[in-house]
Amino acid sequence: MQRYAGKVALITGGASGMGRATAKRLAAEGAKVALTDRQAEAGAKVAAEIGNDAIFLEQDVTSEAGWPNVIRAVQARLGALHVLVNNAGIGGTMKGATPEQETLDGWRRIHSVNLEGVFLGCKYGIPAIREAGGGAIVNISSLAAMQGTPALAAYGASKGAVRQFTKTVAIHCAYRGYNIRCNSVHPGPIDTPMLQDLLSRGGTVDPAEGRRKFIEQVPLKTLGRPEDIAAAVAFLGSDDARFITGEELLVDGGMNAI
Ligand SMILES: NC(=O)c1ccc[n+]([C@@H]2O[C@H](COP(=O)([O-])OP(=O)(O)OC[C@H]3O[C@@H](n4cnc5c(N)ncnc54)[C@H](O)[C@@H]3O)[C@@H](O)[C@H]2O)c1
Repeated sequence: MQRYAGKVALITGGASGMGRATAKRLAAEGAKVALTDRQAEAGAKVAAEIGNDAIFLEQDVTSEAGWPNVIRAVQARLGALHVLVNNAGIGGTMKGATPEQETLDGWRRIHSVNLEGVFLGCKYGIPAIREAGGGAIVNISSLAAMQGTPALAAYGASKGAVRQFTKTVAIHCAYRGYNIRCNSVHPGPIDTPMLQDLLSRGGTVDPAEGRRKFIEQVPLKTLGRPEDIAAAVAFLGSDDARFITGEELLVDGGMNAI
């Protein structure tokens, strides 16, 4: 499938996990891909693995000053911007992250990456995608946006806000006739470094036990793979989803249906 022939896609947090898998998937479908991350070495490696026109740009998505530079660099080096995937995010620790224990600093740190990073991406991405004649934004939220997350208070709140903001961007762009769709993807437990890190810092249970418990909770009885998210993003960013905007797509092995 070459759904992305002639398209340029920018993926934040592309050095690892689902961002990496998404960059690879969109490139395999014909996109020219720019991936950004604050992990420079790992990001450059992913771009080199993809080859062709793929580029890596070092970026901290929380830096407002950096966003216009990133967008301009993508336009200068790849010609335009059609699809933006706001994927970069950080998890919680599951220790000291209840509503009573979370610190204001911790709360702000998580919101700064998971929510403000998405806001800035949309703010600076929309005009660039308009210049290209239209396209799509896909924001990576979480299953945590749909449920109470007592052990991950700030994380759940940040992802809930991404879910709502996605709908705001979708309707803003639709009412103005920008030809830009905006949707959110909500992963359940996906086997990436973030989940492994969460399990290893889980506190009372050891990582293997935590992993088994996670799997037990999933109706499909397996963890998701980064490629499962990449496939969902590839669909929502493509013209196959031309009539879908402001929508939320759960990719969670059935967890939200329980
Ligand atoms: N893994 C899961 O189970 C899961 C579940 C639901 C949602 N998510 C979400 O999916 C997205 C991707 O997560 P993942 O599991 O692939 O994690 P990951 O840790 O493997 O990858 C996240 C990437 O984002 C980058 N990043 C973090 N902060 C950044 C910043 N300020 N600026 C630029 N880059 C930054 C990291 O360096 C890393 O390369 C995140 O938004 C995460 O919250 C993950």
